[in-house]
Parts: sequence; structure tokens; C-alpha cells
Amino acid sequence: MIPVFKPRLPLVDTLLPYLKELDQNQQYTNNGPLLLRFEERLADHFKVSADQLCTSANGTLALIQMLKSLNLPKGAICALPSWTFVASVAAVVAAELTPYFLDVDESTWALSPDHVLHALRTTEVRAVLVVAPFGAPIAFEAWEALQAKTGIPVLIDAAAGFDTFSSCQTTLPFMISLHATKVFGIGEGAIIVGDSEFIKRCRSWGQFGFQQDRVAHCAGINAKLSEYAAAVGLAGLDQWGRTRQEWQSLKNHFLQASAGFDLMPGFEGDWVSCYGQVLTLEKPSVSFETRQWWQGGCHTHPAYQHYPKMDLSVTEKLARQCWGVPYWLGLTSSQLTAIFAELRAVQRISA
Ligand SMILES: Cc1ncc(COP(=O)(O)O)c(C=O)c1O
Repeated sequence: MIPVFKPRLPLVDTLLPYLKELDQNQQYTNNGPLLLRFEERLADHFKVSADQLCTSANGTLALIQMLKSLNLPKGAICALPSWTFVASVAAVVAAELTPYFLDVDESTWALSPDHVLHALRTTEVRAVLVVAPFGAPIAFEAWEALQAKTGIPVLIDAAAGFDTFSSCQTTLPFMISLHATKVFGIGEGAIIVGDSEFIKRCRSWGQFGFQQDRVAHCAGINAKLSEYAAAVGLAGLDQWGRTRQEWQSLKNHFLQASAGFDLMPGFEGDWVSCYGQVLTLEKPSVSFETRQWWQGGCHTHPAYQHYPKMDLSVTEKLARQCWGVPYWLGLTSSQLTAIFAELRAVQRISA
């Protein structure tokens, strides 16, 4: 069976020069030289200065770091879309905030400021966690305007946005996951980008609350990335230009093969992500693996069912119709053609 995803990380030969440095340095974590270099190169990638970015052990922890850095009172309401991976709401709950599920726009699959303004009529929303759906671009200006108008802090979960967010000029803090499933994966890891004061708070929270000293200024946690992870990251950055071209070529083949299908909004844009999805009327019964990447929406999981929510009809429709199909580096154009021929046969769609 063709799997829905196959990760590809840097091969061992490309890691060796960095691992040899590690042998020399004998520093394995705690902001070692490889991590500092990795962060500097990431800052170049996102076109920010080194003090506007920090790394974290994974995306879920990075979201908790960001939410904790807002210094909101325990139980304060954080609005977020239900149409996201459960990690978003898990972070809100772990940060001791109360999640409030909002719906998304069908034309973007993302939350809009109008959803938040509507919620504000009845609920005291204290923070907003916007999700860039499957790495798609989002309307920053509208969110910056909402933050300026209401004073409510807006954070962005751009877990799959390593490529999309490389050229964005937003003042809003965002998180990128470096999980093995992402276009730029290192196994586990994440990046936070924001203004230097915000990043200072995130760093401190992710390093036991320490600042320049060994004193806990806040009740932080350990979210550090090791030198081994940084070595994988540096090797990955060395190859990023080529890797991106491969993702772009996969996307071009996918777009050709999927003619006649409804895809995620904006998928044809100039950005690459790790998700190939189609909208179908029912679960496709096919020979290859399919996956509901975001299942039924966060509000359907037993752990999160009891949290407050607005009408979620778009989320529920997307949850029924949105199916991840095989999409990974190494998948050939003939495999994609066969995948869509089979989908066409079961969905009775003509090319
Ligand atoms: C939207 C979203 N948020 C958060 C995460 C969590 O990231 P991580 O797996 O690095 O913890 C993911 C992971 O795929 C995600 O898709």
C-alpha cells in the first residue's frame, strides 16, 4: 500500500562533518556552538535578526512557551480554530488557559478576525491562536489590525509554514514545527519568531526561567534543542534549496494529476508544504493510504469536547470531506497519476 507520508531527513554522510565538530567541542546541549549557528542561519531564512528567533524541542512545547510568555491569568480564554491538529489545543490547555473553539472560513480554511469579533460580543477573549492551515499563507495585516484595535495578543501556529513564512513580514509571533513530517524536518524541534522582548521571554521560559543567570525568574521548563538536533538542522539547511525544488516539483505533478478535484484553497500558490489533500464527498475506498490529518476537528476529541465553542459547521464539513492522500518526496508522477485515476473512478470525476 502506498503510504500517505514518508519522511526524508538528511543522510548520514551529510551529517558527519557536524558530528565530528561535536566530538571536538564535547558540548552536547545548552546553547552549544552548533545550535547558535543553526539559529543564526534560521534567522537569515526568516529574514529576521538572531534575537528575534529561538528554537524549541518541538512545536507543541514552543506553543506553550509562546502562550506562557503572554503572562495571562490562569483560565483566561484563548480563541482558536477547532480545524487544526490537536497539538494547538493541547498547548492552550497545558498553558493553563481555556480554549474557545471558533469556526474557519470555507474560502481559506483559516480563522478570520470576524470570527473573533463575533465571539467578543459574548466572551472575554484574552488571546487568539491563529492557525496557518497546512502551512498556507494567512492574512497578517487583518490580524495585526485586530490586535491593534482590541489589544488582544494574536499568536500564529504556522507548524507547516517553514517555506511560506520565510518571506512574510509580520510583527505577530509565529511558530514553525521541525517535526519529521514537515518540509524541513529534523526529527523533533521547532522555531519561534517574534520581537526580541517576546523571544527573550520564550527563551527564558524554555530554559527553566533562567536569563543570564541560573535563577528561575519564572516557573519555566526545559525546551532546549540538543547539538545533535542542530547538526541535523544545519545539514538540512545546506540542502534546503534542492529540497525545496523537489517539493515544488511534487506539487506541480500533484496539481497536474488532480485536475477536476477540489483541493485546499491557495494550494497552487508559490509555497511548498508537506500535505496533499483532496475534498471528496465521502471516505474514499482506495488501495493507497488516506488520512484525515486533523480528524474531526479538535472539539470532537474526548479530551476537548467539554470546552466552549461557537457554531462549527464549516469545520465539520471540512472534517468529513478533507482527505490526505500520498504526498512525499520520492513519490513519482506515475504513482500520482495512478492515485488520481483510482480516486476519479471511485468519485466518478472526469479529468
Ligand atoms: C497545526 C499544528 N500545530 C502544532 C503542531 C505540533 O508540532 P510538533 O509535532 O512539532 O509538536 C502540529 C504538528 O504537526 C500541527 O500540525
